[in-house]
Amino acid sequence: MKRVEKLLEQGATESPWRLDFPGLAVKMNGQPLAFLDSAASAQKPYAVINAINAVYEDGYANVHRGLYRLSQDMTVKFEAVRAKVAGFIGAPTPEAIVFTKNTTEAINLVAQTWGRTNLQQGDEILLTAMEHHANIVPWQMIAAEKGCKIKVLPLTPDGELDLNYLPDLMTLKTKIVAVAHVSNVLGAVNNVQALIHRVRSYRPEIAVLVDGSQAVVHGKVDVRDLDADFYVFTGHKIYGPTGVGVLYGKPDILATMPPYQGGGDMVDRVSFDGTTFRLPPYRFEAGTPAIAEVIGLGAAIDYMNQIGPAAIVAHENALATELALVLDGVPGVRVFGPRMNRAGIFSFAADWGHASDIAMILDKCGVAVRAGHHCAMPLMDALGVSATVRASIGLYNNSSDVMALAKGLEKAQEMLA
Ligand code: ALA
Repeated sequence: MKRVEKLLEQGATESPWRLDFPGLAVKMNGQPLAFLDSAASAQKPYAVINAINAVYEDGYANVHRGLYRLSQDMTVKFEAVRAKVAGFIGAPTPEAIVFTKNTTEAINLVAQTWGRTNLQQGDEILLTAMEHHANIVPWQMIAAEKGCKIKVLPLTPDGELDLNYLPDLMTLKTKIVAVAHVSNVLGAVNNVQALIHRVRSYRPEIAVLVDGSQAVVHGKVDVRDLDADFYVFTGHKIYGPTGVGVLYGKPDILATMPPYQGGGDMVDRVSFDGTTFRLPPYRFEAGTPAIAEVIGLGAAIDYMNQIGPAAIVAHENALATELALVLDGVPGVRVFGPRMNRAGIFSFAADWGHASDIAMILDKCGVAVRAGHHCAMPLMDALGVSATVRASIGLYNNSSDVMALAKGLEKAQEMLA
């Protein structure tokens, strides 16, 4: 605590963007809210809230269907977001961007379409020990259907991917590698570029899917630099709405994939004798899409671009340093994940209290954190714990949030130790 106070004396870290987020003004259990759960879902700025309201207030209609002006205008706004998303992650063309419901749906889409087409009995799918269930279970489902084997890249004792195991794990049967860009538990920023390079130099035809859910919010991503075949993320973690996610796929690969769901808007011609499908990305977007949510996602990307990744990273790094100091200063607390190459996501366990008890006491102090397995049970097993407390930083956090966590942990220790 003293070290933190000293650090704060040198100048507290204040977010210049905090007032953009009305949700942070609420009181929690009579205390000012210290929101440290952005890795689960981020708060929304006025820019996003207003953009969503405007969809319904300033001329609403369905997209891709109407010959009338209102619908055409909405279609133009909707498709402009596809181009914006492409620019945001360095995709070569808007047609490489498929809108989904969230990351989970994007991975299920790849497993069910690319997987169903390309996987055969005996093939291998390589995952890593730090994957979220969303990047495990869809692969297990298609593996069970096709008779494939799942292999797992282990971690170093520091909680980084141990790439030394790659040569042993990759075989002539390996068809796809699916890996998190940033761990939602450990905060580890994986060098996916190096991993993809090594996979490609082993066998160029192995596909790689990168789960960018926790990465796109913390800095610039360029899917072409990474050379990922698929890159997925979700809107609600980048200050956008829930209900919209993104699948980027290399255009030549998307073109070989069959549809995911059938319905309106994804077809060229339907008869009772058969149906032909539109080209990607529309082939993968059956039914009326999440129009307001896509437009809200566009506003979130504009908002982040306006601030710029460098400013976001600098602010979050300053707070991450403070948060690490706070956790280092609490006796009996063990922080998981690497010291370096990490995003502002800190999971920890205390030898004096269970994660859920600690989170409940923090809640009484107005501090919102997540506790549990974080949808990463295999990782909990690898770490040898059943649950952790997780504090995660957004661009709106201040040192006062970190101080509230420090005080809350002192209180939790008093009560539980
Ligand atoms: N995947 C989100 C998290 O890690 C929900 O909390």
